[in-house]
Amino acid sequence: MTADIGVYGLGTMGSALALNLADSGFRVAVTNREVEWIDDFVTEAADLAGDIDAHKTLESFVQGITAPRTILFMIPSTKPMDDMIARITPLLSDGDTIIDGGNADFNDTRRRFQELEGTGIHFVGMGVSGGEYGARHGPSMMVGGSDHSWAQFKPMAEAMAAKFEGAPCVDHLGPDGAGHFVKTVHNGIEYADMQMIAEAYGLMRDVGQLDIAQMAAHFGEWSKGPLASYLIDITAAILRSVDSKTGAPMVDVILDQAGQKGTGRWTLIEALRMGISASTIEAAVGARSWSSEKEARMAAGDLLPDTSRGDAMPEADDVENALMAGRIIGHAQGFQLMRAASEEFGWGLNMPRIAEIWRAGCIIRSALLDDLAEVMAGDLPQGHVILAPAMAARLADTVPGLRRVVSAAVMAGQPVPALSAALAWYDTMALGRGTANMIQAQRDFFGAHGFARLDDAGKHHGDWVAL
Ligand code: 6PG
Repeated sequence: MTADIGVYGLGTMGSALALNLADSGFRVAVTNREVEWIDDFVTEAADLAGDIDAHKTLESFVQGITAPRTILFMIPSTKPMDDMIARITPLLSDGDTIIDGGNADFNDTRRRFQELEGTGIHFVGMGVSGGEYGARHGPSMMVGGSDHSWAQFKPMAEAMAAKFEGAPCVDHLGPDGAGHFVKTVHNGIEYADMQMIAEAYGLMRDVGQLDIAQMAAHFGEWSKGPLASYLIDITAAILRSVDSKTGAPMVDVILDQAGQKGTGRWTLIEALRMGISASTIEAAVGARSWSSEKEARMAAGDLLPDTSRGDAMPEADDVENALMAGRIIGHAQGFQLMRAASEEFGWGLNMPRIAEIWRAGCIIRSALLDDLAEVMAGDLPQGHVILAPAMAARLADTVPGLRRVVSAAVMAGQPVPALSAALAWYDTMALGRGTANMIQAQRDFFGAHGFARLDDAGKHHGDWVAL
């Protein structure tokens, strides 16, 4: 008997996905570069081991999969992925599909897709979200590649995916890099949402001087309202967790220095390249970078004068609304970015569908995504989700809280870079008459770059006085 699918790479995510596939009724061939991991994995599979064929060579692994083959790689999406493509393609046949399920740079995915195009071997870039638990029990998956590969993989993908009210959270979003790009933007939104939550926590901890139980209670309360989401849930749980070594709140024993593997930064690089504002994501990536300058910050705390002018803690409702408004704006920026990329690469991304497959399984799953899926299925004035009446109404309800939170934080000297970026974007968008006329005047003054007039078509120059 041959397997329905092969999984190469038995690290945390690969093992969990292989077990999920077996649990979903499929026969799974597995192998790993370090062959000694394979037996441990089979032992860990316990009752599911009967549906798993372990292989110790690449040749027997490939031969053990039913053709046309679907082979999921869960390995670093950098050089190891290129090396494995080179090693495995001579063993494959026409119609076989290689899936890269890692967090790949979509530019690499586009290149790999193009390199294999016309060889008979198909390449799929698939974003997988949900961490280890999601991978094992139902992730959200964003698939990019050919229709042929999708037809082959779809029954397995739908069986193993997270379900939102019974609907699988996976879809074929477009060709080549579409799936990995959407996953990258998912992570950019994840960064922004996490940063805004961290800012709300900082405000409560440092300005409000709330104790850990009070903060946990607020997040616990918010997780039952419009802010309902996985990230708010885990924040409440984090604040309730105690370090067994010291008895202190778990969060208090963690160094305030954030790691990042790169997807947030990639989101931002693409945003800048396409000229799309993703200021909330930029703030979140920047905040992680600043956090890593721990020693400089420790020194600066003594050297830089304290210029703060207040210690007013906003109402808890304002903080909740600030997070809600910030979340809407972070998502709106992410969707604008996907819209621009879809146009540039001709992907035909279906925005409401993306919101739908993010409603369960992934890290940013939230009640908001269900609302966004509905709103985006209708007409969006100027293509902007924040201009849809339902979203504009929610911003009208929540931005006043965001404004009070940002003002209080600014006066108290408490950094809220992502929340203030969200507010600045909102205020800029809401200002029909902006200030770029001054920028144009300056450009014309020093460089004769010209400007458009309000009352006349064409390019004009100013009647500038001399300095
Ligand atoms: C997911 C996550 C995941 C990511 C981690 C860590 O959707 O399951 O986005 O893919 O690897 O969140 O990312 P950073 O190390 O960049 O924070």
